[in-house]
Amino acid sequence: MAGKPEPTQIIACPNGPLLVRGEMDLTTPDGEPIERTRKTVALCRCGVSAIKPFCDGTHKAIGFKAP
Ligand code: FES
Repeated sequence: MAGKPEPTQIIACPNGPLLVRGEMDLTTPDGEPIERTRKTVALCRCGVSAIKPFCDGTHKAIGFKAP
């Protein structure tokens, strides 16, 4: 018997990305699926990543600040 699924968790990293853990459907604005290779993904919230929607670490280089 399957147990209750873990709730999806979103953590806003100080001065960094959103970490999303758990089940989710990640899609383009057109609804095309975006492949994810890990159960936890880091989504860019600074807007300068070269691999959006994922974080590539550039937020550190630009001094992105957000609580
Ligand atoms: S949050 Fe990391 S590159 Fe944007």
